[in-house]
Amino acid sequence: LDRINVAIDGPAGAGKSTVARMVAQELSYIYVDTGAMYRAVTWYMLREGIKPEDHDNVLQTVRNMVIELIPGKDTQSVMINGEDATPHIRTLQVSGMVSQYAKVECIRTRLSQLQREMALAKGVVMDGRDIGTTVLPDAEVKIFMTATVEERALRRYKELKDKEQVSLKQLENDIAQRDFLDQNREISPLRRAEDSVLLDTTSMDILQVVETIVSHCRSYA
Ligand code: C5P
Repeated sequence: LDRINVAIDGPAGAGKSTVARMVAQELSYIYVDTGAMYRAVTWYMLREGIKPEDHDNVLQTVRNMVIELIPGKDTQSVMINGEDATPHIRTLQVSGMVSQYAKVECIRTRLSQLQREMALAKGVVMDGRDIGTTVLPDAEVKIFMTATVEERALRRYKELKDKEQVSLKQLENDIAQRDFLDQNREISPLRRAEDSVLLDTTSMDILQVVETIVSHCRSYA
C-alpha cells in the first residue's frame, strides 16, 4: 500500500493527540504533535522573558532556535536548544499563553516549515489547527475533530485534576478563550478544510474515533 499523510485538526481538547497517536500506531506511521511544538516554543520564550509582542527579540530567538522532535512510545519529546521542554509544556501557564505566541508570523513560518519537512517522506499523522488548510494542504486524508466545549473541558478535567488545582468551569473558560483566539487570528486560523471529514466526537469513544479515521485511511491507500 502507498503511504499517505493524515491531517487531523480541531479545537483544543477534542482528543486529537490521543487519537492521532493511536491512528499512527495502527498504521505504523509517525505521529507529529504540532501543538507540542507551539507549546515548547512558548515555554522557552516565557522562561527567557521574551514577550510575544517583542518582535525583534522573538524573531532573533526563533531564528537561532534548534527544535527537535524525538518520537517516543507514548509521547514525543520536544527539545529546544538541546533542552527537553516536554515536562513543562502542559502546564496551565503554557496553555494560557500559547495562543499569543502561536499568532506570531515568524513562529508559524518556522514551525510550519519544520512540519512540512517531517511529512516529505509520507507516512505521517499530524495533528494541529492548520494542518489540512496550510501545512499539508495535499494530505490524502483530512479529519476535522470537534466536540462541545463542555465535553472537551470535562475530558481535560479528568486528565488534569490529579496534577493541577483547577475547576471544570475554569477549564471551560480557558478552552473557549483559546478557541476564540485560534479561530480569529490573522495567520492560518483554525478552520475546517473544505475537503476534510467532519467528526463530532461528543458522544463517541476513542476507539470509535480511531476506527473511523483508520478506515478512511485504508479506503484511500
Ligand atoms: O493542540 P494543543 O492544544 O496542544 O495546541 C496548543 C496551541 O498551539 C493551540 O491552542 C494553538 O494556539 C497552537 N497551535 C497552532 N497551530 C497548530 C497547533 C497548535 O496554532 N498547528
